[in-house]
Amino acid sequence: MVYIILTMVASMNGGNTNMCGIVGYIGSKEATPILLAGLKKLEYRGYDSAGVAVIEDGGLTVVKTVGKLDKLEKKLEEFNPSGFLGIGHTRWATHGRPNDVNSHPHKGYSDDFAVVHNGIIENYLELKEQLIEERGDVFASETDTEVIAHLVENYYAGDLVEAVRKAMAVIKGSYALGVVSIHEPDKLVAARKDSPLIVGLGEGENFIASDIPAILNHTRDVYLIEDGEVVLLTKDKATILDTDNKPVERKVFHVEWDAEAAEKGGFEHFMLKEIFEQPEAFKKTLSGRIQDGKVKLDELEFTKKQVDRWEKVFIVACGTAYHSGLIGKPLIEGFLRIPVEVDIASEFRYREPLVNEKTLALFISQSGETADTLAALREAKAKGATTIAITNVVGSTISREAHKTVYLWAGPEIAVASTKAYTTMLIAQYLVSVYLAQVKGTIDKDKAEKILAALQELPDNTRKILGQKDYYLRLAESLKGCEHLFFIGRGFDYHIAQEGSLKLKEISYIHAEAYAAGEMKHGTLALVTADTPVVAIALQEKTYEKTLSNIKEVTARDAYVIGLANEGDTEILKTVNEVIYIPRIENIVSPVLAVIPLQLLAYYAACVRGCNVDQPRNLAKSVTVE
Ligand code: G6P
Repeated sequence: MVYIILTMVASMNGGNTNMCGIVGYIGSKEATPILLAGLKKLEYRGYDSAGVAVIEDGGLTVVKTVGKLDKLEKKLEEFNPSGFLGIGHTRWATHGRPNDVNSHPHKGYSDDFAVVHNGIIENYLELKEQLIEERGDVFASETDTEVIAHLVENYYAGDLVEAVRKAMAVIKGSYALGVVSIHEPDKLVAARKDSPLIVGLGEGENFIASDIPAILNHTRDVYLIEDGEVVLLTKDKATILDTDNKPVERKVFHVEWDAEAAEKGGFEHFMLKEIFEQPEAFKKTLSGRIQDGKVKLDELEFTKKQVDRWEKVFIVACGTAYHSGLIGKPLIEGFLRIPVEVDIASEFRYREPLVNEKTLALFISQSGETADTLAALREAKAKGATTIAITNVVGSTISREAHKTVYLWAGPEIAVASTKAYTTMLIAQYLVSVYLAQVKGTIDKDKAEKILAALQELPDNTRKILGQKDYYLRLAESLKGCEHLFFIGRGFDYHIAQEGSLKLKEISYIHAEAYAAGEMKHGTLALVTADTPVVAIALQEKTYEKTLSNIKEVTARDAYVIGLANEGDTEILKTVNEVIYIPRIENIVSPVLAVIPLQLLAYYAACVRGCNVDQPRNLAKSVTVE
């Protein structure tokens, strides 16, 4: 299959979890229209501001604005920068709100250098303070990127490549960089670590981009840049340099896909791409947040006195985010020993919840704009609760209105059916619950360390699950004609069943219901026949035997059962027709892995049934009406 090869390319190129878009040009044509057209090709990724920097008559012109590219286009008509070397960027806010100043490109402390950046610099605050203290640097923006521009300028001693390399030596985090300077008006320098970067090879012109679609109108020959590499581009040559500054021979990759396939990184649908982006997304969610066996969440910083005051916790959200909250509840209850209620946002406000100053309320939302979740947040705040938002979109309304915000850093999610946002919401809740328990002193050090170690193993374990995708396709084919299906499990497994069932319903239109496995016999078992397949999740050790008994209850009614089990579990083979294995990890963290096969099962079921995977009927990505 074509997309398997393309998948390989996408993962070689870092899984494509870049938050923003980068384009760079050097040649003998006007750079501005090329940059703008390239940025337009990256629009599908989602962004909140955009800008370009062009080397013009020995000077540097930076034009940038919050908002969409048509706004930038208007501004460019006004300033009309003219030159043959430039960099452009669409930003999806991470550090600092979406506004004109925080948009890229960023300059150094003079007007001589400009930088565009995708990724996150973890130690930017430390570096920023150092630059302020030692050199008296003044920063215009709140971004981590501006620090890179200052560093490059600071290190510059006549060689832009060397200055970039020196900056790379002190920054920690992920990046794809494009750098220009008026001191070297015939050079474009780029670098990469953990964020995708490609070089487009033209005749008398060369390009950089975070993603292939940006350059497809100009060339189909690209270099895929690898971690730690720096690229020096002139209009006639692109030289890749390794960490020792030695030139690297790279095979030219010839892009055969059309523009639409390229937007999806070669995947057939955004949903599949986003499922495959999960290992990278997990790394970003975790990045800098686990240190010395402890959770570090600078964005929360609660005192023990504050945490001790809470007598009750609410988790409020909609849809997939709500399902993630169901997993958060036992985590917080278990670690903090405080009762937790999980509410569907549209129900929360109308049931007069018992919220007061001794309440902590968590609002989970991928978009940060869901009207019901926002209304619930306002209600809880008005009643005196301390509020925390868990969201993927920086600067979103929910993130602005909550007292504190924990970002997911999952990168834009485009498919309506949420996948990487769900799993990163889970990870965020492991982090938040362990963090709060650390502050309260209610979590055992060993237990916390085990959980955190398991979280860090998630990217590798996820890759193992993704590697078996052909098997999920085969299973999905076996479900193609069915009309009703059950997902069953106990405890965490039940909540994963709920999310698995929602995924299948929303994109494949197969009616699916999730049930607590032990509850089937109290009514629903009446519906189980040879025509109602059952997906049975049996990962939780505590309830394993009981779940097996529940599986036997459905097989006795001739149901075809797909089991979801821990690697090495041969016992389950005796009771199920098919089994999906996931790597065995710390039991409490297994939900993050368990849902991934179910995402793929739903995805392939939708494909084999010919459904519109990315835009299912009647549904919207962001629901901003109550
Ligand atoms: C819509 C989307 C779902 C999403 C829910 C909550 O229904 O289709 O995928 O889970 O809204 O969205 P949020 O942005 O608040 O997580």
